[in-house]
Amino acid sequence: MTLQQLLGIELPIIQAPMAGVQGSALAIAVSNAGGLGSLPCAVLAPDAIRSELLTIEGETRNPYNVNFFCHTPPSPSPEREARWQAALAPYYGEFGIDASAIPQGPGRAPFSAEAADILSDFRPAVVSFHFGLPSPELLARVRALGAKIFSSATTVDEARWLEAHGVDAVIAQGLEAGGHRGIFLSDDLTTQVGTFALLPQIVQNVKVPVIAAGGIASAKGVAAALALGAAGVQIGTAYLLCPEAKTSAVHRAALKSEEARHTALTNLFTGRPARGIVNRIMRELGPISVAAPAFPLATSAIAPLRAKAEAQGSGDFSPLWSGQNAGGCREIPAGELTRALAAAAVFFFFKSSLRTSTAFSSWASRFFRKSAGVLST
Ligand SMILES: Cc1cc2nc3c(=O)[nH]c(=O)nc-3n(C[C@H](O)[C@H](O)[C@H](O)COP(=O)(O)O)c2cc1C
Repeated sequence: MTLQQLLGIELPIIQAPMAGVQGSALAIAVSNAGGLGSLPCAVLAPDAIRSELLTIEGETRNPYNVNFFCHTPPSPSPEREARWQAALAPYYGEFGIDASAIPQGPGRAPFSAEAADILSDFRPAVVSFHFGLPSPELLARVRALGAKIFSSATTVDEARWLEAHGVDAVIAQGLEAGGHRGIFLSDDLTTQVGTFALLPQIVQNVKVPVIAAGGIASAKGVAAALALGAAGVQIGTAYLLCPEAKTSAVHRAALKSEEARHTALTNLFTGRPARGIVNRIMRELGPISVAAPAFPLATSAIAPLRAKAEAQGSGDFSPLWSGQNAGGCREIPAGELTRALAAAAVFFFFKSSLRTSTAFSSWASRFFRKSAGVLST
């Protein structure tokens, strides 16, 4: 089943939810263009979620997706936090930051009963999750809304687990993908596979539709994913330069620079591995540090460094999330980008239908016979 058949949308494109760099404007533009726009809620307070959803419902009648993280919040470990602050101490010194005055906060909230209450006032076509799924009770509440449930899998085991827990589609997130890895059954990063190796293996092993994500940034990339059995694609990085995205100035500059060719998985910014453009702190501490507190507790210690550096026009301490293919970023309206990404997909479907679909062949031969009849009279 294609994404269009599953959701009644026109194009096989999901704009990836991207917490921190976009809100309703990007989602609305993509949904209005015939794709599936997404609202990421991981860093939004409940009031902000409600207000963004009201804006979306006011500006589009088309289906949209609401996305949540669903991690289990860790218990804070004062010892680990202290080790992390010690690792960052030279940088605090450089920027004149008083480490004892840094406010602590979780940074990112998982899906909750409160979020489910808010959703019940709206009718999202899709609710998608990252890092597995919420509790069965919360999931049942989402299903009762009539929303389709999607979640990311980074391995075949995760895809099977998600299918067994009732998702309507699996997002196969390849290693190229920007932002956080959805990995949730293991911590072992050696299990992570590139998109075009992961996708066909997941397609073979589950019955639900599979959405390809990671490094797809052109119409040919979309067609390639469909050729490998994807029902649709989820694209993030390519949207980061669109005017509707809230990508910061330093992030935009990095995406447009040669530096965007070098990305790595890092846990320094949140405590969980995520792909971003390599910057000063990733180079100097190493992109993965055992000292970083568990997700999402690492976020607060680095926040003041980020703020000070960004005020000076530097992305040295910012999470410059990007997939391995920032070359597809375009500074064009998101609706235009969505249609351009889908253009070759339509061509691909047309070609493959011609070859394989008997329904299409018989329709085509009737059409051509009729046309020939019209021409001969
Ligand atoms: C800036 C950024 C933020 C992201 N935030 C989220 C998020 O909040 N929720 C989520 O499910 N995925 C998030 N992702 C991952 C995407 O869903 C998707 O897997 C990824 O963008 C696909 O790879 P690509 O960036 O190469 O297109 C994010 C990706 C990026 C680039």
